[in-house]
Amino acid sequence: MNELLIILLAYLLGSIPTSVWVSKYFFQIDIRDYGSGNAGATNTYRILGSKWGTFVMVADMLKAVIAVKLAFLLPESYDNELYLVNLQLGLGLAAVIGHIFPVWANFKGGKGVASLFGMVLGIQPNVALCCVGVFILVLYLTRWVSLSSILASIAFPVFILVIFNEPEHLYRVFAIVVALLVLFTHQKNIGRIIKGNESKVPILKHRDR
Ligand code: G3P
Repeated sequence: MNELLIILLAYLLGSIPTSVWVSKYFFQIDIRDYGSGNAGATNTYRILGSKWGTFVMVADMLKAVIAVKLAFLLPESYDNELYLVNLQLGLGLAAVIGHIFPVWANFKGGKGVASLFGMVLGIQPNVALCCVGVFILVLYLTRWVSLSSILASIAFPVFILVIFNEPEHLYRVFAIVVALLVLFTHQKNIGRIIKGNESKVPILKHRDR
């Protein structure tokens, strides 16, 4: 098994469209036709309730954690730390891209936030916790999940570059790329935030369909 093969595996794993499958198999709807149209945990929470929203969030996060851990399938990962981190970055990014452009759901997936969190959690849990702190703080102050996601994702490279002063060049580049990717997927949310009509924290009960 070589690097390219496990990166492909990571992409296929990230491509598992949890929210789409949950909505199709348990509710006979396509989550992408409802709410914000996003195939992610927030929209699942909004449309199908907190239980399924939490399930999707955990599953989307876990698939990226597992993708990152695929690195340990290669023997080189055990005796070269730099190799391990670089491979994990590639695997994590592949999983995030899979989540956003899933081969199993016509390439129309989520916005990559839960998977990005899983990727960071799998590589550097302390940085992931710092990002969660940013997410919770922004959510508390604004009640906008999207803005919390955007700022927590931007915080990732900021933590890597400024606070943790990560020396590895590739790590810095990947952190910036993945944050830009999340910004890209939130274009519509950014537009709504500017106009002031972005929805606040999802309601806590089922929405009329
Ligand atoms: O993680 C996605 C979240 O930031 C926004 O989701 O459904 O409100 O566009 P949504």
